[in-house]
Amino acid sequence: MASPTGSPQRDSWGSHAGFVLAAIGSAVGLGNMWRFSYVAAEGGGAAFVLLYLGFVAFVGVPVMTSELLVGRLAQVSPIEALKRLGGPRWAPLGMLFAFCGLGILSYYSVIAGWTMRYSFDAIRGALPDDAAGYFARVGTGMPAVLTHVLFMAITITIVVGGIKKGLERTAIVLMPLLFVLLVGLAIWATTLSGGGPGYAYYLRPRLSELLDPAIITDAAGQAFFSLSLGMGALMTYASYLRSKENLVKETLTIAVADFGVAFLAGLFIFPIIFHFDLVETLGLGGELNTDSTVGTLFIAMPAAVRSLGRMGNAVIAAFFIMLFFAALTSAISLLEVVVSAAIDSWHWSRQKAAIVAGATITLLGIPSALNLNVLDVGDKLVGTVLLMVGGFFTSIMVGYKILPQAEQELSLGLDNPMAIKVWRNLVRYLVPPVLLVVLIFSIPKLVTAVKTLFGV
Ligand code: PHE
Repeated sequence: MASPTGSPQRDSWGSHAGFVLAAIGSAVGLGNMWRFSYVAAEGGGAAFVLLYLGFVAFVGVPVMTSELLVGRLAQVSPIEALKRLGGPRWAPLGMLFAFCGLGILSYYSVIAGWTMRYSFDAIRGALPDDAAGYFARVGTGMPAVLTHVLFMAITITIVVGGIKKGLERTAIVLMPLLFVLLVGLAIWATTLSGGGPGYAYYLRPRLSELLDPAIITDAAGQAFFSLSLGMGALMTYASYLRSKENLVKETLTIAVADFGVAFLAGLFIFPIIFHFDLVETLGLGGELNTDSTVGTLFIAMPAAVRSLGRMGNAVIAAFFIMLFFAALTSAISLLEVVVSAAIDSWHWSRQKAAIVAGATITLLGIPSALNLNVLDVGDKLVGTVLLMVGGFFTSIMVGYKILPQAEQELSLGLDNPMAIKVWRNLVRYLVPPVLLVVLIFSIPKLVTAVKTLFGV
């Protein structure tokens, strides 16, 4: 049965900690490892990390607070929430969110499928020596379609379970495991000789790169993607919140945890790149082609680590299992945005919504499983640009259209009036112009990606 929107029967989180863990689970995902490591490598390591941190703090944090307060205030999914609070003219923004959920999950699930395949083969000790050949076999074509379908089936099953029994329970089990695995891997990486330059590359910025528009766009887009912003994921999660806790504190917890995981992942990946002399292979500093950027973690890293014999195999297995956990807790949030929209706007049952939306996404993802260029364009267009578009309009709506209501909601559970003032100024005067400039910067990259797709 569909529950009436905002009614007491509407599903909700079992505990506040459960909500926070699930939100961190949404944020921490493939973005923190697969995407962060290769965009950081392309963007000059530390320069990128610094810019990224700036965007997280000054743009990501205020937008996240805005999303959380809209969700909690309205107690319904984004399309209805925006309509109720801002009027019918804001409904298209909610539709854009649902579109991004469909679009991102369609290719995200393909990559998540690879992590399942790699984990499985690493555990069986069946990873072949020829890593590039292996990736070419399992990364595209029918094998990739199959693992994508399997991953979607798992995601759909969890979302059918509902907020408490599906989403929350999954996060409570998987997030601590993920953290333990990652810390273990980062500690293991310190035992690699010759990793020193890797840490240096990662941690010491070169100033010229801080001003490069392409790197600035990447850093901003990555901040949105990694924090799950700009498409209503956290807005949806907050709509299942009953208790009125301090949303600024919540935002900071999620953002710090997300950055912490990305940073730890870098402490694992960069020493490997330098220890095994992969700098040339990965073409760091020069232009990377699509296949190698998408495949960096899936080709170069396993090939190198495998040379360490059984220990290497165990490290690879641990790494891909961790990636799989990270991907799963994010994928359920992407699907939940679409599912909650169907439940609240069309009064579908959760089961019907999850199956229909999940099946649609599975079909939409097949082109990405067959052609990595499609995956890449999806990631650049939906996973980067549209998220920033979503963030831009969210900040306009919250900062200009519903500001008094927003501030009142934010003040609940908040003991520091200064925080509201800082948030208000950021969301009104900093976020919109910065995002506008970054969006203009992002046009050339997008054009290149589309050209590559069509081979021109
Ligand atoms: N934040 C997730 C990651 O880093 C991806 C994501 C984006 C999830 C947008 C939900 C919404 O992998």
